Amino acid sequence: MKPIKVGLLGLGTVGTGVVRIVEGHQEDLQRQTGSAIEIAKILVQDKSKLRNISVDVDKLTENVWDVIGDSEIDIVVEVMGGVEATKAHILTALGNGKHIITANKDLMAMHGAEILAKAAENNCDVFYEASVAGGIPIIRALVEGFSSDRITKIMGIVNGTTNYILTKMSQEGAAYADVLKEAQELGYAEADPTSDVEGLDAARKMTILSTLGFHANVALSDVEAKGISKVTKEDIQYGKKLGYEVKLLGIAENHDGHISVSVQPTMVKNSHPLASVNGVFNAVYVTGEAVGETMFYGAGAGELPTATSVVADLVAVVRNLKLGINGRTVQAPYKEKKLKTDEQ
Ligand code: NDP
Ligand code: HSE
Repeated sequence: MKPIKVGLLGLGTVGTGVVRIVEGHQEDLQRQTGSAIEIAKILVQDKSKLRNISVDVDKLTENVWDVIGDSEIDIVVEVMGGVEATKAHILTALGNGKHIITANKDLMAMHGAEILAKAAENNCDVFYEASVAGGIPIIRALVEGFSSDRITKIMGIVNGTTNYILTKMSQEGAAYADVLKEAQELGYAEADPTSDVEGLDAARKMTILSTLGFHANVALSDVEAKGISKVTKEDIQYGKKLGYEVKLLGIAENHDGHISVSVQPTMVKNSHPLASVNGVFNAVYVTGEAVGETMFYGAGAGELPTATSVVADLVAVVRNLKLGINGRTVQAPYKEKKLKTDEQ
């Protein structure tokens, strides 16, 4: 059986998980797709770096062209992060007819429409389940599971690093800076953790979720974002005395086309299920006119949970390749619909 060849951009926390799952679950993946899946090339910054996974050194490259320009590679999995250079690589890869899977919310929140347009032009798939809420298949739920409904509200905890920090500050009285360092060591935080703690990572994820859920072109600049860097141990202890936990909540609402999206630290009554979402876990409430309220819960960051979503996307792309329907199942219905603001 000729394997489907995959190129990986990045072998950090998520990339390592992708290699582990593709290798460790190879038989299951073959059963599900009818194809062997081979990670043929891996882009890294530094080939000589000591890694906590053993990979064939011949597969490693520091030259992106070895991945996006390799005619044998069908699918490019982008797990390197960054925006402008990464966008250029992805657009080139799409131009070369490669299908794309990415975990990059920064990129999708800022340039999702352009990337999806290029994918459509080239009849390629772009999937990005891992970009929001790690191992929770929330994008599939919004795009497929609720395709029959009108979503009115999406609310939840969508950043694992800040939830980890707030939980440790609340339960152990830990110091903010110490727990942030721990979250970085565990591979939860972004390369620049300012995006986590200042609410920007959550804002990017809420941009993606509200764009998909409300079928609207929500821009990152439409999201009001505040982070947790100013939340003190005293705030958290005071809240606890009153029966509340502090959580960084993303809230997106659609009232008859008037959309508001925000991210902010919020006092959540401790009887509410979101108050007991702890550590790196995320939870997202989706409310639809017909379905009512639903809740999704799971690990929001980290190597294997995130890689689970990436490899699920890989399965979807390989199935599409086999069925010859690539480009027709692009996940994001980014539509040219004008966002109504409060002034309108
Ligand atoms: P890491 O920093 O752990 O890994 C990044 C990888 O990309 C490294 O292997 C690095 O190479 C490589 N890389 C980075 N820049 C370049 C470059 N310019 N040229 C070549 N190689 C490069 O990141 P993560 O795995 O944590 O995150 C990757 C992406 O996934 C990000 O977009 C992130 O937002 C997203 N994400 C992360 C999650 C997590 O839990 N960590 C969860 C969900 C999404 P080298 O190893 O040589 O340094
Ligand atoms: N830094 C992100 C988080 C990674 O902590 O949620 C997952 O997107």
